[in-house]
Amino acid sequence: MAGPAVLEAGAQAESCEFERPKPFSLFIFGATGDLTRRKIMPSLYQLNTLSLLPGHFLIVGSGRKSMSTEEFRRQMRAAVLSAQPAGGFDEKKWQELADRLRYMPMGSPETYAGMLAKCAPLEGRYGTCGNRIFYLAVPPSAFEDVITNLGEAGASAEPPDGGENGGYSHIVVEKPFGRDLESAKRLNSLLRKYFKEEQIYRMDHFLAKETVQNILMFRFANSIFEPVWNNHFIDHVQITAAEAIGIEYRGAYFEEAGVLRDMFQNHMLHLLALTAMEPPSAFTTAKVRSERAKVLGSISRLDLQKMNEFLILGQYGRGRTDGEVPAYRDEPGVSRLSNTATYAALKLEVENWRWRGVPFYLRSGKRLSGRRGEISIHFKPVPHTLFRQYTGERIEPNTLTLCIQPEEKMDLFLQAKQPGSRICLGPVRLDYKYSKGATADYARILLDCMQGDQMLFACAEEVEASWELLSPVIGKTDSMEMKDFPNYAAGSSGPAEADALLARDGRAWDPL
Ligand code: BG6
Repeated sequence: MAGPAVLEAGAQAESCEFERPKPFSLFIFGATGDLTRRKIMPSLYQLNTLSLLPGHFLIVGSGRKSMSTEEFRRQMRAAVLSAQPAGGFDEKKWQELADRLRYMPMGSPETYAGMLAKCAPLEGRYGTCGNRIFYLAVPPSAFEDVITNLGEAGASAEPPDGGENGGYSHIVVEKPFGRDLESAKRLNSLLRKYFKEEQIYRMDHFLAKETVQNILMFRFANSIFEPVWNNHFIDHVQITAAEAIGIEYRGAYFEEAGVLRDMFQNHMLHLLALTAMEPPSAFTTAKVRSERAKVLGSISRLDLQKMNEFLILGQYGRGRTDGEVPAYRDEPGVSRLSNTATYAALKLEVENWRWRGVPFYLRSGKRLSGRRGEISIHFKPVPHTLFRQYTGERIEPNTLTLCIQPEEKMDLFLQAKQPGSRICLGPVRLDYKYSKGATADYARILLDCMQGDQMLFACAEEVEASWELLSPVIGKTDSMEMKDFPNYAAGSSGPAEADALLARDGRAWDPL
């Protein structure tokens, strides 16, 4: 009997691509900023080269600087060009996009209504059917003003349902969503004052990474994993987001945020949520988001009196990555006495039947020895060492690693007999690589927003649950003087104390 048709690892089924989305106008606030240049514009260009933009669309960039549309197009072309591999820039595809680009300066509250009125004829000309996306790529301190101004200008009004042409107005809010629980709640209620929940898209681009999306498929479309996905079989879980880069040109932002707000409240906790959540009863946005929120709400509260038992913070000093690099305190926009953490290792426990007793160790840092994003499930050792005469008492337990970046793959480490006449046992690796076909995370985010699919965006409950957990800890660390900073060299694997955090539990981090 013929088996099922199996795709080669890395191959892509033709039907796995999106249909073209509905016509739209995209308003980008913060259009002269770093995020627009590095992520949003290159992703729009990528979507156009993949023929994933509709025939009818308009993109309006808005920022504090005053500049002409021509100048804006010139700057965006340079940004897109520098994001392409050598020789990978298609001038014709860029021109198609550039023709739809406009620039309008962002100013006083009245200008929001003015801007929308001014764009209406353009929207008519480009046939956008009144569908609008408002993308807040501004610094977090400007979120409340932009939301209020948009709300007051009537931006949340949706056009009448145009059938297959839609009829929507969506607002995308970048991270970090708030500075603490209170400000996150304030932001949620401000958004809800003007927009319905179905119109609000809270960003966490990690959710749109190909391997991250695959965690749920992997767990719930295969019957072999769920029976062992619990505290009977799993010893602990490690979640790593290591970066070789520093803070780039974002000194002022990072001084305000620090690694716990920048990476943990959102990306790291979402990786944990997908790994630990219960199976939803259906693959719908509401059910998936509710399970993610539920598990975030089940993480044990953190005891501030015992902070060094679960949290290690670090800040990088001078060192070498691909050359000599300065200490964090010597980066532009950073205080010479900064107490801001650029690294954190955090031990969490999920208090429920499935996970009780299984620690989740999370670590993320800047200027580490390499770029590495992964979730690694460490299984328990076999209960009885049958092969002790060949291996000694300990057989390396199985590990399943879901690699998010730089390579998108999965590795399962097993023990097997090494070929040969003598009995030798050793680890073998089964791997599955997604070598091609992955849609870049920001491109996917933009597409989903055009399609009206909120599954890869956080709901209010998730954001509030993660702040509820971390706010007290972050609040305390904000006021701490870090006498041992800097405590790791750029290009290293982080502070030695982070190793001690696991060593105390008789465990060790996976090598970076
Ligand atoms: C962002 C953080 O959300 O994610 C950055 O603000 C970080 O500090 C980035 O570098 C990492 O994302 P990626 O997709 O480059 O791994």
